Amino acid sequence: MSEQHIINHCGLKILRSTHPEVRKIKRLQQGHSAHGNKVWRSSFALIDYLETYPFKAKSKVLEIGCGWGLSGLFLTKNQDVNVTGIDIDSSVQPYFELQNSINGCEVEFQERSFETLYENELNDYQYIIGSDVCFWDEMTNPLLDLLQRAIKSGVEKILIADPGRPPFWQLTEICSQKFNSEVVSRRIHTPWKSEKYILVIRGD
Ligand SMILES: C[S@@+](CC[C@H](N)C(=O)[O-])C[C@H]1O[C@@H](n2cnc3c(N)ncnc32)[C@H](O)[C@@H]1O
Repeated sequence: MSEQHIINHCGLKILRSTHPEVRKIKRLQQGHSAHGNKVWRSSFALIDYLETYPFKAKSKVLEIGCGWGLSGLFLTKNQDVNVTGIDIDSSVQPYFELQNSINGCEVEFQERSFETLYENELNDYQYIIGSDVCFWDEMTNPLLDLLQRAIKSGVEKILIADPGRPPFWQLTEICSQKFNSEVVSRRIHTPWKSEKYILVIRGD
């Protein structure tokens, strides 16, 4: 597999959109419905945060809107946790699986939306993570409802990384009134210089 189309970062091989296998999958697909067409940069800030604040060993983690699944992959490779990735868009699954396979991992993928996750499943997870999953105004309410169900179910911590789009700030504003939450900024220097934001919500 050609190294020039891969970013080596934090012990992971991360696919660039130019990768021949990525191009092959793209050619076979009609296109993406909800922005699952690359690894988004907020996930690099999220893995940087997760490196500083690791999750408890043996815990279960749900990655929402996982796309190509970088953050969950980072956790699987580097921390002793079990990750499930969910995404509404089935067309991201081949990329998710490709990125898993080049890293020797088999993270579970489920094609489903935030809206289908209820308390009886959420109570199985200690942590929920997501990066760049609040990019349209219409996403704020379904996400907020999910966060509410998750906290009610006993999820201990939720991390949502974002470049700082207006729907994200709207979400953080409501979260500050409803939950024990804060927003932290995270500056990374590799593989690029970038600053992103992480909404941190803690269960009671
Ligand atoms: C901007 S991409 C980010 C992907 C990945 N988290 C990353 O950082 O590389 C947003 C992802 O959220 C997914 N998504 C959008 N709406 C969703 C919903 N209601 N439920 C689950 N996933 C959703 C999209 O299909 C897409 O893969």
